[in-house]
Amino acid sequence: MTHTIETDVLVVGSGPAGAASAALLAMYGVKHVLVTKYGWLADTPRAHITNQRAMEILRDLGLEEKAIAQAAPQHLMANNVFCESLAGEEFGRLYSWGNHPLRKADYDLASPVSICDLPQNLLEPILLEAAGQRGTSIRFNTEFVDLVQDADHVTATVKDRLSGATSQIRAKYLIGADGGRSRVAEVIGLPMEGQMGRAGSMNIVAHVDLTKYVAHRPSVLYWVLQPGAQIGGIGAGLVRMVRPWNEWLFIWGYDIEQGERTLTNDEAISIVRNLVGDETLDVTVRSTSTWTVNEMYAGHYSSGRVFCMGDAVHRHPPTNGLGSNTSMQDAYNLCWKLKLVLENKASPALLDSYSAERQPVGKQIVTRANKSIGDFPPIFEAVGLLSSTDPVQARKNIEARKAPTAEGKARRKKLNDAITQKNFEFNCHGVELNQRYASGAVVADGTPEPDYQRDRELYYQATTWPGAHLPHVWVEHHGRRKSVLDLVGKGRFTILTGIGGDGWKQAAAAVTATYGLPIDVVTIGPAGCDALDIYADWYRQSEVEEDGCVVVRPDMYVGWRAKQATSNASGILVDVFGKLLGHIDSGSGRNAASVAAE
Ligand code: FDA
Repeated sequence: MTHTIETDVLVVGSGPAGAASAALLAMYGVKHVLVTKYGWLADTPRAHITNQRAMEILRDLGLEEKAIAQAAPQHLMANNVFCESLAGEEFGRLYSWGNHPLRKADYDLASPVSICDLPQNLLEPILLEAAGQRGTSIRFNTEFVDLVQDADHVTATVKDRLSGATSQIRAKYLIGADGGRSRVAEVIGLPMEGQMGRAGSMNIVAHVDLTKYVAHRPSVLYWVLQPGAQIGGIGAGLVRMVRPWNEWLFIWGYDIEQGERTLTNDEAISIVRNLVGDETLDVTVRSTSTWTVNEMYAGHYSSGRVFCMGDAVHRHPPTNGLGSNTSMQDAYNLCWKLKLVLENKASPALLDSYSAERQPVGKQIVTRANKSIGDFPPIFEAVGLLSSTDPVQARKNIEARKAPTAEGKARRKKLNDAITQKNFEFNCHGVELNQRYASGAVVADGTPEPDYQRDRELYYQATTWPGAHLPHVWVEHHGRRKSVLDLVGKGRFTILTGIGGDGWKQAAAAVTATYGLPIDVVTIGPAGCDALDIYADWYRQSEVEEDGCVVVRPDMYVGWRAKQATSNASGILVDVFGKLLGHIDSGSGRNAASVAAE
């Protein structure tokens, strides 16, 4: 006899998207079950660049220190190195991930957390352990097979991969975080655009001590340009640090037209030695696997009570290091909305904002990651590796770059320009942080969207304009230095105000009385306020008067702001929250009073 399990949310998958969802739902106190296909988590390093937005989520979860303890810090990510092999000639180096002295300030000013290198096989256990400890019911070896939906529930059929038995889990909502071959996305028929399998890549994880080749130029990515290296894969051969400096991932492309590639141990060792340029190297291969370069995204992320996230809806190469980061941010966007809807504090209409806010981000990162692959050929061309696959001719072309001739000079310029262009992959701070949402869960304040003062892909621009992420500044709170980001989050709405903003406190109480939603109100300013604006950075950054307010959603995005105090603060704020929570259709003209009466 089989019993149907009942829960509020079923999470399918335990990658960065599913594990983050479970950890967040557990922190928010939402009843849920996570099922995942295999007996354990990611068994290879895969994702590693962990950007500031992802680290902010880990900080909100109380997991930042655990992540830092396992990660390689920002200063070890200092360069991207372009070379013919690690032992061979180096063509150039690019300061990366905010390590250029001029860029360091941008990164430091943008967030209380630092970018770091945290391999996925270390990240996932941190998230899932926290989830399990806080109440997630986790079922390994459990494969999602199918689902049906009715007006109130989703009923999923899952298969126990150990016994082969199938059973059902009935949930109010289902999160499909089941990766690039998502069965959930397939079953609900999400519209996908683009192409899978554009090129093939081989991963070789190996234990090999490369200290003598890398310690003087610390990096997590060493790009190897050799004849033929741009065929398939991510555009070049890659030596990627997993643990400094003796655990590595070697990536080499293969011709996908020839079908799936398998590697013998000897072949793997030979590729490793070739990329390093040292035939005597002592190599222990840990694993080999293949993956494909994809360029695909969903046009919409949900259907009824089912919401997909992560690689299920955005599939792209690892260039720019955006996949896992974006997957965790998808989870951060959806989970608080599910919580409030399940608690009847928000209308189910709020859930429509998930796709409206995250789909444009997914499309953007798929496009950016694939564009970055296209930035490799000019580097090959500049060092003369596009014109010939013959190693002897290739060497001659490499030498020509150093000649005191017009051709040599032109090649040197091309190379410098081509490597500089790679800032759009390795210092693409704006792509990482500049998301601005437009949806029913953001209420306009009547001001126009601020223009970007610098390149919007390269540079982050902080603003409290509704729909943007709350800017970070340091303040002092109860005798400790904190970020304003530390004053918000944890699944709660927060109103930030200052001297003269008492009216917003009463208004927040009116919102609580109307919708049953608790709201934190925090004053920032001189002594006497909850948080001390010691550097006056909030004064400069908030873009509202001291008696104005900034309404911050649980995911740290600005939901609305008021330039200054107003006599009708309660009426206005109740109306704003009616819209933010989906009770009032922004275009319907219904007012908060009528909602309260319903
Ligand atoms: P993911 O694929 O990780 O997880 C899917 C989960 O669903 C797994 O637990 C799986 O077992 C489970 N599952 C699948 N089907 C199921 C079913 N039917 N039933 C139940 N469970 C099922 N990203 C980044 O941000 N920074 C980076 O530096 C890199 N670098 C990088 C390097 C390399 C070599 C690769 C291959 C990839 C990256 N990425 C990256 C991308 C990153 O790995 C990827 O975007 C994330 O793993 C996506 O996370 P998801 O949770 O969406 O899917």
